[in-house]
Amino acid sequence: MLATNFGKFTYKNPFMNASGVHCMTIEELDELASSTAGSFVTKSATLEARAGNPEPRYTDLPLGSINSMGLPNLGVDYYLDYAIKKQQEMTQQAPFFFSVAGMSVAENIELLKKIQESDFEGITELNLSCPNVPGKPQVAYDFPLTDQILETVFGFFTKPLGVKLPPYFDLAHFDEMAKILNKYPLTYINSINSIGNALFIDPATDSVVIKPKDGFGGLGGEYVKPTALANVRAFYTRLKPEIKIIGTGGIRNGQDAYEHLLCGASMLQIGTELQKEGPAIFERLTKELAAIMKEKGYQSISEFHGKLKTID
Ligand code: FUM
Repeated sequence: MLATNFGKFTYKNPFMNASGVHCMTIEELDELASSTAGSFVTKSATLEARAGNPEPRYTDLPLGSINSMGLPNLGVDYYLDYAIKKQQEMTQQAPFFFSVAGMSVAENIELLKKIQESDFEGITELNLSCPNVPGKPQVAYDFPLTDQILETVFGFFTKPLGVKLPPYFDLAHFDEMAKILNKYPLTYINSINSIGNALFIDPATDSVVIKPKDGFGGLGGEYVKPTALANVRAFYTRLKPEIKIIGTGGIRNGQDAYEHLLCGASMLQIGTELQKEGPAIFERLTKELAAIMKEKGYQSISEFHGKLKTID
């Protein structure tokens, strides 16, 4: 009932983690792989391991979370070795996802060349939207640079590739970014990363709640769902149909998942709520989504996928 088509792949259900949550170590990745989730993605890797930003760097908020992790990760070789071994063990036909986020264009190219030359057969996600590295702007807010990176990447990269995007807030920006993305054989886009550089104040202490960047960090959870839905919808109505969409942002229950699918997402990533509940969340979400579909009389996601109604 919950099977979802994602280009040439079919997943048993649309749920997976958002990169950064429960995917730093082999142990965490294995827990995702053996959970109810339809797939999983590794923590965005850099060439060398990174400690990330000073703590506290993640805090739950009343309606979500704020983080400035700063891309802590164990380095691309750690995840690539795991991925190559894991893909042989997996019984599912549909592959999992491998995320990379270089600190520069040159590093992104080097990371992707490494993956291209490796035995990894899954799907690669190029993260162009991390808001948390001091001094490094989110790449995908620079349209010509994004275009230039994709042109270079598709000059040599032949495996399935998607990009993780930041939220956009203007219809002109959706138009401009979609025009760029449509030029390339992308497997998917992932929309959205956290809303970058938010600020939360603890009313009891008059203080920010995370240490890096004087408290500025990426906002996730319930706060961001309307922005995430708008981005999924805006790209679904602008991208060529071959480019699938992973909807990320504010999914806490079956109804949130249903809304992302209605807007046109084909896979769904869970960040803040996975951090709060752990991998058992996937069982709850699959049950809740199936119950909503049953109540509405749907037997498959394809019956309502992308079919958001507007008012005439
Ligand atoms: O700071 C971080 O590690 C987050 C990365 C991201 O949002 O892409």
